Amino acid sequence: MKIKGMKILVTGGAGFIGSNLVDELVIDNHIVILDNFSSGKKKNVAHYAGKDNVEIIEGDVRDKNLLFSITKGVDVIYHLAVQCLRVSINDPEINHEVNATGTLNLCMAALKNSVKRFVYVSSSEVYGTAVNVPMDETHPCEPTTIYGASKLAGEKYALAYHRTYGMQSMVVIPFNTYGPREHFEGAYGEVIPKFVLRALNDQPPVIFGDGLQTRDFTYVADTVKGIIKASGCDEMIGQTVNIARGEEVSIKELAEKIYKKLGKPHIKQVFEKERPGDVKRHFAGVKKAERLFGFRAEIGIDKGLDMFISWFISQGYNTANLMKEDIVFNWETPK
Ligand SMILES: NC(=O)c1ccc[n+]([C@@H]2O[C@H](COP(=O)([O-])OP(=O)(O)OC[C@H]3O[C@@H](n4cnc5c(N)ncnc54)[C@H](O)[C@@H]3O)[C@@H](O)[C@H]2O)c1
Repeated sequence: MKIKGMKILVTGGAGFIGSNLVDELVIDNHIVILDNFSSGKKKNVAHYAGKDNVEIIEGDVRDKNLLFSITKGVDVIYHLAVQCLRVSINDPEINHEVNATGTLNLCMAALKNSVKRFVYVSSSEVYGTAVNVPMDETHPCEPTTIYGASKLAGEKYALAYHRTYGMQSMVVIPFNTYGPREHFEGAYGEVIPKFVLRALNDQPPVIFGDGLQTRDFTYVADTVKGIIKASGCDEMIGQTVNIARGEEVSIKELAEKIYKKLGKPHIKQVFEKERPGDVKRHFAGVKKAERLFGFRAEIGIDKGLDMFISWFISQGYNTANLMKEDIVFNWETPK
């Protein structure tokens, strides 16, 4: 199915990945964004004000009536709305309600309104830590966090709707994604923007645990390309696929790279307690995406970090002010 000339609903479309996804989909489609702006930002979608092929609805995936009404006439849903991992450590219930129940609500609405395709954007957190690498789609799913468990529930609902009712659903599993509009603030702050911000303020990177834990960092332009390619692939119906670069980087190496790129290699790394439920190793198997729809993530970590740092600097932020929003142990703060 060609993703062109469609009416598309993007939940979480004002968030980091969601807004980057909308920027691509809007070229050929009519877009409806549903977001409650809990972590998403108005400025991420402000450039669509007044455009007649973009509707922005401030609303919640927990509101079933709203979902039944806004999915009428929709061809494709990309479901990204989420409460984040760090919030789940302090508030498991909201994670369950948004990530698991919210997905079930959306599946019900999609089926009732005969939505043609349902793309569930999951997370590598569903796997837990690697028991074998590279982690392909047959890797066991043993999430370590409530977040991972709630994302796995969402996956299972989306696929059960295919098996029971024939809904054209699929699951795409991005690994850690970084790039423009990524969060640096409060509980939503992610490791790369946090390290960049701290380096620009001459503050040391704070590493939780020994820093040898690894992630498969994937640049957001690649993640978006992978999600869109997967969604147009008919063989993906009822299937799960990883979307990742396929490159393993430890947090210690990541800090070294960022501080070197910003001319601050002399600043010593600080090691602190581990974050509860932190996975030790993530390294994606990426062959299925290549085989089914010819997708390979092109942007390696060094090029991606250079691009992200340039973007961050181009925003002209007052980095000293932003630093005030940096909370070191940011899973400990209530939202
Ligand atoms: N960022 C990553 O590294 C990464 C990695 C793997 C998977 N993912 C997945 O990608 C998706 C997007 O993640 P992101 O990093 O862009 O996060 P994000 O926090 O930037 O985006 C989530 C969006 O959902 C919105 N939202 C939250 N609760 C909502 C609710 N109840 N109703 C409606 N909207 C709500 C937020 O306001 C936000 O705009 C998520 O499903 C996440 O699980 C992200």
